[in-house]
Amino acid sequence: MQQDTHPRPELLISADAIERRVREMGAQISADYAGESLTLIGALKGCYVLMADLSRRIDLPLYIDFLEVSSYGDSTESSGIVKITKDFKHSITDQHVLLIEDIVDTGLTLNYLMDLLATRRPASLAIAALLVKPEKQQLKHPLKYAGFEIEDRFVVGYGMDYQGYYRNLDYVGVIDPETLDNPGGF
Ligand code: IMP
Ligand code: MG
Repeated sequence: MQQDTHPRPELLISADAIERRVREMGAQISADYAGESLTLIGALKGCYVLMADLSRRIDLPLYIDFLEVSSYGDSTESSGIVKITKDFKHSITDQHVLLIEDIVDTGLTLNYLMDLLATRRPASLAIAALLVKPEKQQLKHPLKYAGFEIEDRFVVGYGMDYQGYYRNLDYVGVIDPETLDNPGGF
């Protein structure tokens, strides 16, 4: 047998609690935009699990697309320097747009993305995120839908990663990046 080189992050938010909250968020979004169609734009890669779950809880005509941004490099702190590594081609002019994010930490990534999307003149533009860390918040835009507020710890799972790993956990867990320099366990 191999040694256990793949530690399980400590539980912060269970899969059940996430499912319940995402269901509520979907119901709220469906009510708020009733009678409209809605464009969900996900910020890859972290949003992919929330996008899959939340989009299936929204009872509206939905157009779904993604962009990819890189803000941290391999660090765990936001640099504020955001690079778009994949844009989407769909026109959002005059569309109701909801930007889907896994987690808002400093908010610097979202500030950049919201400014960018606003230049495309959508009918409305709002944010939905699963997690918010209020401590370092510098978000200039209203966070219309937020799943959970958490303290300032580094979380993984439900799409969120540490160096590309742990996205596949069905819960949100906490790790201490300083004690883990080999998340793949190889
Ligand atoms: P911000 O620009 O500081 O708000 O950082 C936003 C992005 O950093 C998020 O979309 C995540 O991809 C990533 N991020 C921030 N905090 C965490 C964390 O605790 N775990 C994993 N990724 C995080
Ligand atoms: Mg992200």
